[in-house]
Amino acid sequence: MKVLVTGGLGFIGSHTVVELQNKGFDVVIIDDCSNSDENVLDGIQAITGKKPLYEKLDLKEKHKVEDFFQRHQDVEGVIHFAASKAVGESVEKPLLYYENNIGTLVYILKELCNKNKASFIFSSSCTVYGQADKMPITEDAPVKVAESPYGNTKQMGEEIISDTCKVTPSLNAIALRYFNPMGAHPSGEIGELPKGVPQNLVPFITQTGIGLRQELSVFGDDYPTPDGTCIRDYIYVVDLAKAHVVALERLLNGKNEANYEVFNVGTGTGSSVLEAIQSFEKVSGRKLNYKIVDRRPGDITSAYADTTKANKVLGWKAEYTLEEAMNYAWIWEQKIRD
Ligand SMILES: NC(=O)c1ccc[n+]([C@@H]2O[C@H](COP(=O)([O-])OP(=O)(O)OC[C@H]3O[C@@H](n4cnc5c(N)ncnc54)[C@H](O)[C@@H]3O)[C@@H](O)[C@H]2O)c1
Repeated sequence: MKVLVTGGLGFIGSHTVVELQNKGFDVVIIDDCSNSDENVLDGIQAITGKKPLYEKLDLKEKHKVEDFFQRHQDVEGVIHFAASKAVGESVEKPLLYYENNIGTLVYILKELCNKNKASFIFSSSCTVYGQADKMPITEDAPVKVAESPYGNTKQMGEEIISDTCKVTPSLNAIALRYFNPMGAHPSGEIGELPKGVPQNLVPFITQTGIGLRQELSVFGDDYPTPDGTCIRDYIYVVDLAKAHVVALERLLNGKNEANYEVFNVGTGTGSSVLEAIQSFEKVSGRKLNYKIVDRRPGDITSAYADTTKANKVLGWKAEYTLEEAMNYAWIWEQKIRD
């Protein structure tokens, strides 16, 4: 069964390609390498013994998307990771984000609507909840006004898919709302490769740990949390990748209850910034150079998932702890700086 993975050379996409190939799927990747590198294909091959098909293609070019689907009529499922994801950049260049995250989604959905049957998985985010009123966050929690154009593209993306599914019975879709993906493959062959200053906490921690950055700034220790720092739900990237395979199989096997469904993907456990630092110090045996600075505008206090729906309905559950995931992130950081 052939599956298209857009953004399959990226962080979450590459780990998902591995899990798909391990399950016997034929994968074709589309990526424009705007935030990744073709060497990732070698990593995937080293782990799975198979190099996936790959087309270097910019999904913003509509006619190329049409041409791709013309040439690959046997694609039965699409997992759509390709997007721009830097929150700060999205505030400065909103149109770039709307074009890349919304335009590409529309082009792909148009192609899928022409098929007799299609399955689609969308990368959404817990950012849609903003600062939720209740913890842990269930899928029923209200979607809050987006804090950034990036966050808005995830909300709008979900609405576009939902509206399209309502009038397209042949299209089945699942939006997965990721919490905070982190870590790297246990093999050390693939991992997160942030270009420039990392946007996420864990690569910032490991880059500071290895000496690439002088110091980690912890934004605020006066939040209403046990140690005063912000709380997030760190989900190991391999667990997250497996959630995509399970979600796709649900659609391909016709097990879905509606033709558009939404699931949280997290561990269900919140960890503070200081706990993440302690976990790094434990696995690396190094002291991390960090300082407490003022709060950062736009940061929410706490976000962790209620994973009951994913556990019961998808039959999926996160298996790895923060410490295990941090250990793999650290092994990866050391390997790429060798
Ligand atoms: N990493 C996170 O913290 C996080 C959290 C929630 C949601 N997400 C979403 O998950 C998805 C994957 O995230 P990631 O962390 O793996 O990001 P990533 O940047 O590592 O991967 C995205 C990939 O898409 C490719 N791409 C971007 N625009 C493209 C285009 N126009 N045509 C073809 N390829 C294109 C990039 O080159 C990259 O390889 C994104 O949609 C992101 O918004 C990520």
